[in-house]
Amino acid sequence: LDNGLMRTPPMGWLAWERYRCDIDCDSDPKNCISENLFMDMADRLSEDGWRELGYVYVNIDDCWSSKERDNQGRLQPDPKRFPGGIKKLARYLHDRGLKLGIYGDMGTYTCGGYPGTPVEKIEIDAQTFAEWEVDMFKYDGCYSNATEQEQGYPLMSKALNATGRPIGYSCSWPAYQGGLPPKVNYTQLGEICNLWRNYGDIQDSWDSVLNIIDWFFDNQDVLIPAAAPGRWNDPDMLIIGDFGLSMDQSRSQMALWAIMAAPLFMSNDLRTVSSGARNILQNKMAISINQDPMGIQGRRILKEKSGIEVFWRPLSNNASALVFFSRRTDMPYRYHTSLAKLNYTTGSYKIFDVFTDKATTLKDATEFVVSVNPTGVVMWYVSAPFHFKSSFFPPYVLTS
Ligand code: DGJ
Repeated sequence: LDNGLMRTPPMGWLAWERYRCDIDCDSDPKNCISENLFMDMADRLSEDGWRELGYVYVNIDDCWSSKERDNQGRLQPDPKRFPGGIKKLARYLHDRGLKLGIYGDMGTYTCGGYPGTPVEKIEIDAQTFAEWEVDMFKYDGCYSNATEQEQGYPLMSKALNATGRPIGYSCSWPAYQGGLPPKVNYTQLGEICNLWRNYGDIQDSWDSVLNIIDWFFDNQDVLIPAAAPGRWNDPDMLIIGDFGLSMDQSRSQMALWAIMAAPLFMSNDLRTVSSGARNILQNKMAISINQDPMGIQGRRILKEKSGIEVFWRPLSNNASALVFFSRRTDMPYRYHTSLAKLNYTTGSYKIFDVFTDKATTLKDATEFVVSVNPTGVVMWYVSAPFHFKSSFFPPYVLTS
């Protein structure tokens, strides 16, 4: 969506995966969906070095509202859990250089059973969000049918725009259509949404991450052309810092989300996140690859029988990123290759290893070995004289 927003993938924090629909503030005050949770995360983002790296959105998901609209038909936050109201929360974030995201659903109810925003409520709800000074809106799709979605997702885009407030727009529409053409029209999505969930929800497990990786790269020829500045495929939240991933698997999620030009929304507890997880999430080179201004989504270029896969993303300044990923479950695998075999043309390249900070120089023909841990990655930033063989990467014919 060309509303001037999200010219690089949005970054921040989103409540859903980690905090779900925990509304039990009496017995679980630290983790329940309440203004305190979002203020705590805002404090961490602004005090622990996250904001400066680009993590600026603090996003509310399902279960924030009261079960009833107010007497003027407007959505209202649960009064016990958000006693200050959403506008005050937005102010709290804005005062700290952060932005607020909120959630709604295109059907009669949200997935969690709270009031939805069906077609006839779109205008009033868009106005309410703007009045609260909200900066981003995620529009879920539970309890709506295809006809309603067809009408509602574009209409909400117009209604948000008509408020005059810049509000980033995240659409769950394609996830409810199965993610693929002919049901999904990615050209239209790019015109009406800043980002969209293509596929099912992430859970706190490596299985779930692997399943998402498989779907996105198996369908890369459809998905890559849909992404560009202001319009992004969304493989769902980062679960780094939670319970399901090892350190190697956490690096894999970070690396492949960077290759995919994916929105980076962490869903974790920033109050207690381990230093290992924090180092991965705050890795400057991984973030700058994710945030590359050309906004070209990367692709899987090789699937080896050994279980090694190679991913590549073209970047500004004649640079590129490479990820060597191992699906193996035995031991670190010593993968032999050369840049020439990965379709880099004649020349000498500077290599920066993203997770070890080591730099080397490689000629295209030089054979090298990377040792890739089970379920882990080696990620490189390659800065280079840059000529790809155009036949190999049809979407980006970069010649000089
Ligand atoms: C389904 C969405 O895909 C999730 O990200 C989350 O928003 C839940 N609904 C909330 O109920």
